[in-house]
Amino acid sequence: MNLKDLYINFFVSKGHKQIPSAPVVPENDPSVLFNTAGMQPLIPYLMGQSHPYGTRLCDYQKCIRTNDLEEVGDVTHHTFFEMLGNWSLGDYFKDESIEWSFEFLTEHLNIPVERLAVTVFAGNDDIPFDDVSYNKWISLGIKPERIAKTEKDNFWIAGETGPCGADTEIFYFRSDDCIPEKFDPSDDRWVEIWNNVFMQYNKDEKGNISELPKKNVDTGMGVERTTAILEGVNDNYLSSIWKDVIDLISEIANIPYEGNERSMRIIADHIRTAVFIAADPAGIKPSNTDQGYILRRLIRRAIRHAKTLNIDIDSDWDLKIASLLISKYQKYYKELEDNRDVVLNVLQDEKKRFSKTLEKGLREFEKITRNKENISGEVAFHLFDTYGFPLELTVELARERNLEVDVLGFNEKFREHQEKSRTASAGKFKGGLAGNSEIETRYHTATHLLNAALKVVVGPEVHQRGSNITDERMRFDFSCDHKLSDEEKKKTEDLVNEWINADLEVKVEEMPKEEAIKSGAECMFIEKYPDIVTVYSIGNDNYGVISKELCGGPHVKRTSELPKFKIKKEEASSAGVRRIKAVLINE
Ligand code: SER
Repeated sequence: MNLKDLYINFFVSKGHKQIPSAPVVPENDPSVLFNTAGMQPLIPYLMGQSHPYGTRLCDYQKCIRTNDLEEVGDVTHHTFFEMLGNWSLGDYFKDESIEWSFEFLTEHLNIPVERLAVTVFAGNDDIPFDDVSYNKWISLGIKPERIAKTEKDNFWIAGETGPCGADTEIFYFRSDDCIPEKFDPSDDRWVEIWNNVFMQYNKDEKGNISELPKKNVDTGMGVERTTAILEGVNDNYLSSIWKDVIDLISEIANIPYEGNERSMRIIADHIRTAVFIAADPAGIKPSNTDQGYILRRLIRRAIRHAKTLNIDIDSDWDLKIASLLISKYQKYYKELEDNRDVVLNVLQDEKKRFSKTLEKGLREFEKITRNKENISGEVAFHLFDTYGFPLELTVELARERNLEVDVLGFNEKFREHQEKSRTASAGKFKGGLAGNSEIETRYHTATHLLNAALKVVVGPEVHQRGSNITDERMRFDFSCDHKLSDEEKKKTEDLVNEWINADLEVKVEEMPKEEAIKSGAECMFIEKYPDIVTVYSIGNDNYGVISKELCGGPHVKRTSELPKFKIKKEEASSAGVRRIKAVLINE
């Protein structure tokens, strides 16, 4: 049995419910582009909301971290990884959590205790030394010399604010050297394999720490790293997770892995991440902003390294690798199977687009660097903007010629460019509004009406969690803890149609973001909006204002421009989130 199955079975036997992996693109956390940890989709529940699956949860979660994209190529870095996690939402606390981690590692993964060491929170002015964890480890047979106390490294928080707490981290001695008696966490032969966070605090914007309503446990264990350890390999890419992918790349390139490790690892890693992003329900396509830009960078960097290995990039090398990855993972992630064609098309289209400019860009690059001058931010941005060269490509090419790139200068130009495109499409996160056809515009207004109607029928606690519009239908995700009854669906539909028939006016105003929020305007991703926002209100003297939302538009002028509204389907989208599919029909 593989690690994922062993892990889930173990925690299910301890009374946990397995929850599905959330999409890689967070559904309701705009502060990050991707889920970077298993706990991220669970933040609302760690903060106190009750989870529909109960108080003991476990899962394997798809995570993407791209901040060290450039590190990929060594033996341990990956942009995508799976994180195993188990959670207690106000249920068990330190004792059971530590006991079960120990039991799983020593009895189910058969790791000898001598290879283990742990760190515990040393304490500071605000929070005392974690003696409970310390004593628990001692009682399980971990020697005092193998327990290190640290302050900063034993306090875990996902970003700047949010649920947090002291943690205890478990380390494994990954080396053939003789195991030192005393554990030194800075000795990198000791690698962290599991992190048990005791989340009992919340940190706010001002840095104040307060107690959460419940004491929670959040643990995380990386699948790639632990698998490599269990299989006794020092290069993650030689573990069973990667071995066949690397073999395939080596077969395609017709050269061995040895001596070509870096490019092969980059190709394997980047194509895997691209496959998972492209298969995500968010429908990300390569672009020059946000998640789409990451997807583009990954694909283009993989292509560039395929060229380095002399792979014929116009052949179907990338599709072969992607197909192997899909077949390896589809048992765990059904979306890979469902979106197989989407994924392969994304790879193919992006390759075509890049191939068109790659040669020209490389020539331009040669011209620019003929005089051996370093590359300014402006030139790097020109290569990006005109030839589609992601920054890393320019940096890598420059490095080969011993030249420097003004990365900060590029970032500045890039930020300006992001700002411009964000402002131009401030509504994109709101409505999933890509094109602006007349039909889509009508659907967009229908989204606001549906959001408002659900608040009346189901309750004011309903909030939009996402939406997607095509010119054939709309999809609307909202927070709600139950399946809508037929009566609720009918009432919602009737209310939207009543508002359509009432010929309500759709008014647009511009105002500072603060003011908009104060006036009670609905908004899903506040950080995504510029300082001055557009607010759409729908209503008239009779009805008052029935809907007010921050939105980039466009919308119809009057609701009577919409034909009849009909709900086609109501279903679960993810934990605590329901999805409605609806259409506008001319009768
Ligand atoms: N949140 C912790 C981590 O990411 C444990 O899951 O390491």
